[in-house]
Amino acid sequence: MATLELRNLHKSYGNGLADTLKSIDLSIDSGEFLILVGPSGCGKSTLMNCIAGLEDVTGGGILVDGQDISGMSPKDRDIAMVFQSYALYPTMSVRENIAFGLKIRKMPRAAIDEEVARVAKLLQIEHLLERKPAQLSGGQQQRVAMGRALARRPKIYLFDEPLSNLDAKLRVEMRTEIKLMHQRLKTTTVYVTHDQIEAMTLGDKVAVMKDGIVQQFGTPQQIYNDPANLFVASFIGSPPMNFVPLRVQRQGGQLLGLLDSGQDRCQLPLALGDEIAEGRELILGLRPEQIVIAEAGSNGLSDVRAEVEVIEPTGPDTLAFVTLNGAKVCCRLAPDAAPAVGATLQLRLDPARVLLFDAQSGERLRAAPGGTGETKVTPLARHKH
Ligand SMILES: Nc1ncnc2c1ncn2[C@@H]1O[C@H](COP(=O)(O)OP(=O)(O)O)[C@@H](O)[C@H]1O
Ligand SMILES: [Mg+2]
Repeated sequence: MATLELRNLHKSYGNGLADTLKSIDLSIDSGEFLILVGPSGCGKSTLMNCIAGLEDVTGGGILVDGQDISGMSPKDRDIAMVFQSYALYPTMSVRENIAFGLKIRKMPRAAIDEEVARVAKLLQIEHLLERKPAQLSGGQQQRVAMGRALARRPKIYLFDEPLSNLDAKLRVEMRTEIKLMHQRLKTTTVYVTHDQIEAMTLGDKVAVMKDGIVQQFGTPQQIYNDPANLFVASFIGSPPMNFVPLRVQRQGGQLLGLLDSGQDRCQLPLALGDEIAEGRELILGLRPEQIVIAEAGSNGLSDVRAEVEVIEPTGPDTLAFVTLNGAKVCCRLAPDAAPAVGATLQLRLDPARVLLFDAQSGERLRAAPGGTGETKVTPLARHKH
């Protein structure tokens, strides 16, 4: 077990190209599980290869237990990596594949046998040990690849999209197994994925990357509930967060945003600092599960009635789509709530929970510093078309 700290890490592949990694600062405690998530090409594999020592860094430090390892050769780093493509040795049995790394480290025969048995039991591949890779399914091959890494007891495990070649059902199974494995072994782990369910469920910490920059680093809950910007907000969550454009209005000392469904309007109080100019364009962020359907006729101050355009029953939820300010908005309803297309829903929004972003920069806008983040709500005349 070891702590891992990345300090002002830079990586350029040269050729006058922009830096692939730009000032990465991350730090995880011993035994923690860090998820790196971000779109294809944002630099996730580059970062992993730098930690493993397969690529040199251009600047900055990689500290394991406080010691900078960025100049060390890969074999001296005591870090094991599992790649997306699990190249097993085709002529070797599963047993030999798992034992290979231990053999070249000159581990005694008896110790190797013991280690292979331990790993095979952990990954439930004991019955496959004498088979060749070609006689295994994709999922079994991936377990063997993982077994090869786990047969060592390194300070740190690196996983680079280890499940992305597996079919959906196996991915879910392996996800649970990886989590179980980490709970048992408690080895410091960095795990790359572009699957947001893996990102939310596996990690103690999540780093969301874009264009070689960490956009936000926090717990899964912080990333989900308190995103730093529009990119993070839109990247995490399924179905994704709804984004509704609106313009700041000022009325009687209050900041408001008009929401228009085509058949009804409401003025939503905006929890913002007083310095926000009238007319400024914002994006309102609203998770599908935050929209409450109020009983028709009840009167919430920030209710807006809207017509259901599409219904999608997914099994565990029913998704109802409406339009607000011209944007499609998904409402997540209970499975037994199945309003008809064309029906009117009375949507109730909680002004204290909606998120606000600057429409130009995408940065999150928050209540005034020192403020409570709560907005005083005074009754306003409701506008009907
Ligand atoms: N060996 C390399 N030489 C030059 N450019 C590279 C090399 N490896 C990756 N890149 C570039 O670095 C960027 C990040 O790639 P990568 O780290 O593989 O992203 P990700 O794993 O997030 O998909 C991409 O633009 C890619 O083309
Ligand atoms: Mg990659």
